[in-house]
Amino acid sequence: MKKILILGAGIYQVPLIDTARRMGLYTIVASIPGNYPGFSHADEVAYINTTDVESVLKFAREKEIDAITTCGTDVAVATIGTVCEAMGLAGVSRSAALLCTDKAKMKKALWDAGVRTSEFVSVMSEEEACKAAERLGWPVMFKCPDSSGSRGVIRVNDVQEIPEAFRYAMQASRGGHILVERFVSGHEIGLDGVVQGDKIVLWPHDKLTRSNGLTDVPIGHVVPLELGPEEMRDIRQQACTAVRALGIDQSFFNMDIMLCEGKAYIIEIGARIGATCIPEVIGAAGGFDCYEEIVRCALGQKLELTDEVSSVAAAQLLCSDRNGVLESVDAGNVPEDARWTLDVKPGEQVRRFRVGPDRIGQVVVVDGDRAAALRKLKKAVESIHLNYTAETI
Ligand SMILES: Nc1ncnc2c1ncn2[C@@H]1O[C@H](COP(=O)(O)OP(=O)(O)O)[C@@H](O)[C@H]1O
Ligand SMILES: [Mg+2]
Repeated sequence: MKKILILGAGIYQVPLIDTARRMGLYTIVASIPGNYPGFSHADEVAYINTTDVESVLKFAREKEIDAITTCGTDVAVATIGTVCEAMGLAGVSRSAALLCTDKAKMKKALWDAGVRTSEFVSVMSEEEACKAAERLGWPVMFKCPDSSGSRGVIRVNDVQEIPEAFRYAMQASRGGHILVERFVSGHEIGLDGVVQGDKIVLWPHDKLTRSNGLTDVPIGHVVPLELGPEEMRDIRQQACTAVRALGIDQSFFNMDIMLCEGKAYIIEIGARIGATCIPEVIGAAGGFDCYEEIVRCALGQKLELTDEVSSVAAAQLLCSDRNGVLESVDAGNVPEDARWTLDVKPGEQVRRFRVGPDRIGQVVVVDGDRAAALRKLKKAVESIHLNYTAETI
């Protein structure tokens, strides 16, 4: 029986763990201890911090694993790179993983390879940040280079905002420096894909977002993205050049892209598939099980995937607008073919939605065209009535 080590035991890893088991693999999940749903789904649990490269590698060697992977999270990508390289497993190389988990190194590699990405400067002090912003032109983005999930990322509109923004970005930074980036104003899209040697397959998609008062948070995705041929060509060309520039050659990946006046600017790339139902929508639109493909990729098997999609798939998180305890669910009018799941059971606590992990479930729909798919998604979300007992958490 082949053994797969899955890094992370959160809600986004649960379908990956279940799929690997269903495919007949012995599944081991590594995570710090905590109330994580993935533990009860795996054959074996290892309480190791997934960013502790040495401990994960030692454990992986002891267990003689055949594959290592994750989905929906960046924190463990550097560990995956090291383990794959040290044990000769299929996956992202160590050097590519390190470029993908440090935005300063990533931006430099993209810029040097001629990928369209906003101009940037790496700075260590407020004075340097100010000089950089004056040179790049307002507004700018300040970014902590080594975190994810929008932590330490802030738009800075003028010189007065610098001190507070600098502190905000710097407090999340481990390396003592932050990035100042030219602001790209436009329409943000996402793109996920997989590369195996010469072959790159891309699935650009739309993001559905919801404001939490501070920033727009992704709550869903739609595949395929529908734009004109010129824009689609540009997105594909920039995305492929970016994958090559970072040296990702054996992995799924996820990108943020800003479209500005018909041109694609690569914001960032992670060497793993995205979260917020991305595997579900890509698989549903393309007619395959994306989690199975992630497992096969990690096992080093050749994937037979293409960019073609046969229908439109849309998915959205179920969110609560307040803290409370779930009492009951009434879902009588949900369209029959909508697939929906809840993360919580009656009696369990829910949090008011602010960030992705506050999700309480998800809905996935498929239809022949975009308008019909979005209508069905809206109807499904509105038909799932969750009743709570109000409670302060
Ligand atoms: N240069 C930029 N111009 C405009 N918006 C940006 C820029 N960089 C980042 N953003 C916005 O901030 C979000 C988070 O930035 P990102 O680099 O993706 O960090 P994270 O790793 O936290 O997701 C992006 O999805 C985008 O909406
Ligand atoms: Mg991002």
